Amino acid sequence: MMVLMLNRNLAFNDGWRFSSGEPHGAPETDHRAIANALKTTGRMFARPDETTPIQPLDLPSFGESLAYARPGFDDSAWRTLDLPHDWGVERGFEQDLPGNTGKLRYHGIGWYRKRFDWPAAGTGRRLFLEVDGAMSYAAVWINGQFVGGWPYGYTSWRVELTPHVRASGNVIAIRLQNPNDSSRWYPGGGIYRDVRLREAAEVDFAHWGVAVTTSNASEASADVEVQLAIENPTEREVQATVAVSLFDERDVATDGPSERIAIPPRTTKRLRQAIQVQTPTLWDLEHRHLYRCKATLALADQETVGEEVTFGIRSAECRSDGFFLNGRRVTLNGVCLHHDLGALGAAFHPQAMARQIEKLQEMGCNAIRTSHNPPAPGLLDLCDRMGLLVIVEAFDTWQQAKTPNDYSTIFDDWHDKDVRAMVRRDRNHPCVILWSTGNEVREQGRGPELADRLRAIVREEDSSRPVTVGCDFPDAGFNGFAKGVDVFGYNYKPHLYERFRRENPGQPLYGSETASCISSRGFYVFPVSDDQSKGQADFQVSSYDLSAPPWASAPDVEFAGQDANGGVLGEFVWTGFDYLGEPTPYNFDPTLLLNAKNDPAKLAEIQKQLDALGNGQPPPSRSSYFGIFDLCGFRKDRFYLYQARWRPDVQMAHILPHWTWPGREGQVTPVHVYTSGDEAELFLNGRSLGRRKKGSGVYRLRWDDVCYEPGELRLVAYKEGEPWAVAQQKTAGPAVAVKLEIDPPGPHGDGTLSFVAARVIDADGDLVPQAINLLIFRVEGPAELMATDNGDATDLTAFASPQRKAFNGLALAIVKCRRGEVGPIHLSVEAEGLQGDAIVCGAGHARRQIAQR
Ligand code: GAL
Repeated sequence: MMVLMLNRNLAFNDGWRFSSGEPHGAPETDHRAIANALKTTGRMFARPDETTPIQPLDLPSFGESLAYARPGFDDSAWRTLDLPHDWGVERGFEQDLPGNTGKLRYHGIGWYRKRFDWPAAGTGRRLFLEVDGAMSYAAVWINGQFVGGWPYGYTSWRVELTPHVRASGNVIAIRLQNPNDSSRWYPGGGIYRDVRLREAAEVDFAHWGVAVTTSNASEASADVEVQLAIENPTEREVQATVAVSLFDERDVATDGPSERIAIPPRTTKRLRQAIQVQTPTLWDLEHRHLYRCKATLALADQETVGEEVTFGIRSAECRSDGFFLNGRRVTLNGVCLHHDLGALGAAFHPQAMARQIEKLQEMGCNAIRTSHNPPAPGLLDLCDRMGLLVIVEAFDTWQQAKTPNDYSTIFDDWHDKDVRAMVRRDRNHPCVILWSTGNEVREQGRGPELADRLRAIVREEDSSRPVTVGCDFPDAGFNGFAKGVDVFGYNYKPHLYERFRRENPGQPLYGSETASCISSRGFYVFPVSDDQSKGQADFQVSSYDLSAPPWASAPDVEFAGQDANGGVLGEFVWTGFDYLGEPTPYNFDPTLLLNAKNDPAKLAEIQKQLDALGNGQPPPSRSSYFGIFDLCGFRKDRFYLYQARWRPDVQMAHILPHWTWPGREGQVTPVHVYTSGDEAELFLNGRSLGRRKKGSGVYRLRWDDVCYEPGELRLVAYKEGEPWAVAQQKTAGPAVAVKLEIDPPGPHGDGTLSFVAARVIDADGDLVPQAINLLIFRVEGPAELMATDNGDATDLTAFASPQRKAFNGLALAIVKCRRGEVGPIHLSVEAEGLQGDAIVCGAGHARRQIAQR
């Protein structure tokens, strides 16, 4: 008997043809008409009853007359590209476009076409196109026939090609359309995640049809429940034998019983198997042990097919007294992340994501919230493997809009399918601990009904995890809305934790969004003020980590709120990394107003600021200031503030600001220190400036009256009276060279991308902290320079440019190896008046090689 296992996915990312806009002369189709035509294609997302009838597809004929959808259309003049692809980021910035969506042209229409053969056509097999994410309103034609698509750009979906596919010469055409005003941040444009072809037997497991959940997990045993969904689209009843085996990492198997089942014609049948695993190896943050579940389906007249999924055995409990992983209290030290990967745009690259996770973990972060949409599936694979907890979020809006063309326009028709697709795809991941059905939805004032309805949908797909919503209405914790969620998330309300816990005893609570502190890496504004609206200049924000928009606060304020309310599960800082779009406080668009909608005084204040900004040119800013890391992934100062709190055992002290201030001699230049110690003494040019101690509710040490003089700041930190860590800041000399180094050092991912930091240094090799030299990068070898960046939110030079000014001493180059070719790849950098540098990179690592020029 032949078992068809595993390798049923056919790579389909490469060799697409792309063109933007509609065919010449064709009238533009409204995206609402597309959404309408797509309605039938979510049909497999019915409620998972024991048997569900498979309805005939009944697709409307749609767009067949569009030239680009026709198989015979000559697309040879179109550009060839490989996926993932983001058309917005590659077009470069336009000053006149809204900063809120990154000043990038993500909106508009794009077409993708690809030819392929499928020798198995006509043999009874089925063929699907699987898309992990396409932004947005995707419509698909195969050989000129419309076969469906999906409107929400963050959902993964598939369409069946079988009835129209031939053995050779097939043409697939995909049309995407991004309406204007559809997002509060940069959404990207294009097929920005992986696609594949998937072969299936005539009777086979349904899409995401093997679901594994665990309960009663301990080191002694665990109850594993495997739910299978099997599709029989034929006109005959079929008899089949189903078997399930679980394998640990050493390939030791635990088998379930094999079961004979009958599947009626044209139905999806669901069944459950309970398997007990003895002495399981638990998935945990440090030991990311993964199991495999193999399910097989044997039919008399069909080859046996198999499906394999990965899962983990762990217990995860959100309780009113904290979050517990395998029975151990774990504080959620989390960050919110938008989906873009900086200069790579929305296009998902596992290696870029792995780099972000590595940096977050170095800080002590153990959780992320995928704000405000389902992530690329690869993100969850990485979190399973690297040990990071995840809140997967569905939506930024329900029925009530935040921007005119956002998800609210399709919520009624699509929320059920989108929620089911999210949960079905991701429920096997041990890293996922909570489903969030929304962020700051404007229905928070309207009772729990809609929240409850969404929670019911989630529970039908996965009853093992709780459901949450991130709430910004202060009242949402007290007006009944909280009853619609299992775990309550407050955005920016540490002052309400105590009251919430008093009035909702028993309901778990966490900070779903916290701080929203804003800063530019390495940029400091004087005089330093504790007023959070201050610290702004030159479209940058001071890095003393005291600035925040009106609804937000410095990190320290949230820390105090968490410390005063021990049962709070933890926090998700807005945000881990800077992201494209939403350049608060320099976005004069409705986002700011939305955030203050419940506070008339703040609303008026913000309106005034916006009016003032509106008088001249629009601000140049195109990316956020919220990140703990900048858009390049370089640390801002507050990395150390969080590390001190989240990894108290790391012996660390960090001084800010830098100490190179020509012209500030004699002026007050406050010195702040982040340390995992509890006390420190600061010295300026050898003189003690005093010893300071952290008190309760104090998270940084401050010497606010230091007068600047060039030289050296040196710090000795203590913990419980013993020397703990040292730090220094030295006045830098003139820039003499630029140095390249892999960032972070060490091997990364599959080796197709290299991230290389360029540092402008003085004669001692120290960073020149205000250097803005123009750097010119060059790649030689089987590779291309994908992007350069510097973390400056106001830099409108296209990411594709090989020339990039350093921003406060640093810049980044991202190099991509060409697939199938081997190195060496040389990356070099030159800058006028400075000694350049070159390194060899590629295959996931780099070595310093070429002598400096
Ligand atoms: C929140 C919102 C986020 C982001 C943030 C900025 O209110 O949920 O998406 O806009 O504010 O502070």
